[in-house]
Amino acid sequence: MKQRTHKIKTAGGMMNVVDCGPDALEGATPILLVHGFPLDHSMWTHQIEYLSQNFRLLCPDLLGCGRSDPIDGATSMRLIADELAEVLDQLKVGPVAYCGLSMGGYVGWQFCKHHRSHVSHLIASNTRATADDDIVQRGRRMMAKTISSTGSKELANNMVEKLFLSTEASKKEIEMVHATIASTRLETIAEHQLAMAARPDMSDFISSIDFPTLVIAGEGDDITPADEMRTMAHAIPNARFHCIARSGHLTPLEQSDDFNRAVEQFLN
Ligand code: MLT
Repeated sequence: MKQRTHKIKTAGGMMNVVDCGPDALEGATPILLVHGFPLDHSMWTHQIEYLSQNFRLLCPDLLGCGRSDPIDGATSMRLIADELAEVLDQLKVGPVAYCGLSMGGYVGWQFCKHHRSHVSHLIASNTRATADDDIVQRGRRMMAKTISSTGSKELANNMVEKLFLSTEASKKEIEMVHATIASTRLETIAEHQLAMAARPDMSDFISSIDFPTLVIAGEGDDITPADEMRTMAHAIPNARFHCIARSGHLTPLEQSDDFNRAVEQFLN
């Protein structure tokens, strides 16, 4: 499998982007895979292994994550979307199938709204279009304030069990996600929490989506429950809905065969 890593200069800093699969397989749509909070491109490891046989995949580390530059000042879902559009412009790739998980999905609504010409398809995985209520916003602001004293290791300990169904994920996957969270910069955790707390409600926007959309849920996802995602899929014109059995929040890792098949069928 052909794999390269680019360092792309964006307005916010240098972004690390893993680029794999064939450059221009006839008819194949390139896929931009955007990770969740507080992770990096490694959460797409099973898609990199499998989907890259037939699709070109671009897997960025958002600024502040993985091998990208730290976030310089405050960020927002819109700013992150703009940075991703800069990456595609510089690589001269697109339009793409935008595939975002959770926070990657929140960024996705902004990307689709403000960079429509870069989008051919949308895959919205384990995410939501609504804004947070007051309680969730307060919790995020609290974490932004306290993370420098609690540390990312404790966050990793707490988060990992919410991300997977304990009966299904392999030890290797759990350890990988734990290590990613534990190594995420504390400023990134704080800035991404503040940015998610401030994100706008996109419920009206999704009813105007005019390109093929696949919504993927996890049957046992407590963070973005499948019923809520089914309702969201009904609000998107002609969207397909796929619920993955025996999975928590991180469907692409926990049930990668099912996830990959759903993406492949949708794009073919
Ligand atoms: C994620 O997986 O990106 C987060 O759980 C999103 C969130 O905190 O809302």
